[in-house]
Amino acid sequence: GNAKLWGGRFAESTSALVEKFSESVSFDSRLYRQDIRGSQAHARMLAKVGVLGTEDAERIVAGLDAILERIESGQFEWSEKLEDVHMNIEARLTEDIGDAGKRLHTGRSRNDQVATDLRLYVRDVIDDLAELIGRLEGALLDLAEREADTVMPGFTHLQIAQPVTFGHHMLAWREQILRDRSRLLDCRKRLNLLPLGSAALAGTVYPIDRHYTAGLLGFDGVTENSLDTVSDRDFAIEFCAAAGLILVHLSRWSEELILWSTPMFGFVDLPDRFCTGSSIMPQKKNPDVPELVRGKTGRVIGNLQALLVLMKGQPLAYNRDNQEDKPPLFDTVDTVSMCLQVYAEMVPHIAVKRDNCRAAAAKGFSTATDLADYLVKKGLPFRDAHHAVGSAVGYAAQKGCDLSELSLEELRQFSPLVEKDVYERITLEGSLNARNHYGATAPAQVRAAIARARAARGA
Ligand code: ARG
Repeated sequence: GNAKLWGGRFAESTSALVEKFSESVSFDSRLYRQDIRGSQAHARMLAKVGVLGTEDAERIVAGLDAILERIESGQFEWSEKLEDVHMNIEARLTEDIGDAGKRLHTGRSRNDQVATDLRLYVRDVIDDLAELIGRLEGALLDLAEREADTVMPGFTHLQIAQPVTFGHHMLAWREQILRDRSRLLDCRKRLNLLPLGSAALAGTVYPIDRHYTAGLLGFDGVTENSLDTVSDRDFAIEFCAAAGLILVHLSRWSEELILWSTPMFGFVDLPDRFCTGSSIMPQKKNPDVPELVRGKTGRVIGNLQALLVLMKGQPLAYNRDNQEDKPPLFDTVDTVSMCLQVYAEMVPHIAVKRDNCRAAAAKGFSTATDLADYLVKKGLPFRDAHHAVGSAVGYAAQKGCDLSELSLEELRQFSPLVEKDVYERITLEGSLNARNHYGATAPAQVRAAIARARAARGA
């Protein structure tokens, strides 16, 4: 015979190899909280509709509370023979409270149970990540405020383009993670429906009240179709896609910080405690944290790919394949939350080397567009102005100086429209302050954007 919870119809016991091969408790035990919450709600619902005696339901709820405590204090023994988190907890409950424990699974299947656990889990994770993103946003706003006037080169094609403020750059990062947070919260809306009641695939014969269970578990409603419900992992995929994009953003920041902390850029200094040295080169201070974030992004993108491929060949309804959703999902959760955490810790301590930032902006003819715009304001068509300034840049490059260092006579060679007032337009500050509208880089606009952001956070 077979002593498993499902062993009734089996003539021999599971091979040890198959047990090892098919167990999931070694990784899904992390769902214990959600599993217990879900079971308690299910038991209460069964009692409410009269399928379970009130005393049995109370025993179940109390028994599960005791198990929760044992798990949290490290005194629960997980058994691979019991396959997964669900059967470990149910078997222990029955050991503890007897027959009432055996009644818990009435009107339920592990298929709707695991779907419920996972939705609760991803929902909890999203709430944690949303908070973490809020912390990181706060750090970016502080840094942006500190560096609202700091001039640096803005880049396109990684070539010096136009001056921007460091604060503006930090606020660009902020936009990325705010979209990320709203994507997570979108995902939360769609997943926040109760699977329980779908049972194995077709629903159940008991007079269950799904809406009652949904209310107990904080779901906004119940899922619509039992077949779909037990086979659906869209929410995990959506979550992993949103997480992938978070990491793509952090990876881009990392790439910038890595470049900026080289002596060739020299825009920032990362705190020592976020860097490591070299075992051979005594001078080295390596930006390992951003490098690891950039590297871990590959894992998280791979996890999304794994889930998509996991689902693509599955007919309705539940297939055991779905057990494989957990390692990529959990790895994604761990990685994205660690990366957000290290960034939230590191950002407040990024030291900006203002002189270097400024010198770099002064070097690359970053105010050439401003000179062209100046000529346009004096009546020259933009294309002619563009050409004239191009020639001036060529001349200054040959001479080895900036446009603002050319004399009035020199500048007038390229257009007679140039007058003395040109100099206040083609300095770095002149360029920045001229870009003074909603969304632009002028320090005043950066301060206004920070004020709006803080007001939105307060609200
Ligand atoms: N461990 C399983 C999973 O993660 C639970 C559901 C098992 N259901 C089943 N009918 N074998 O998907």
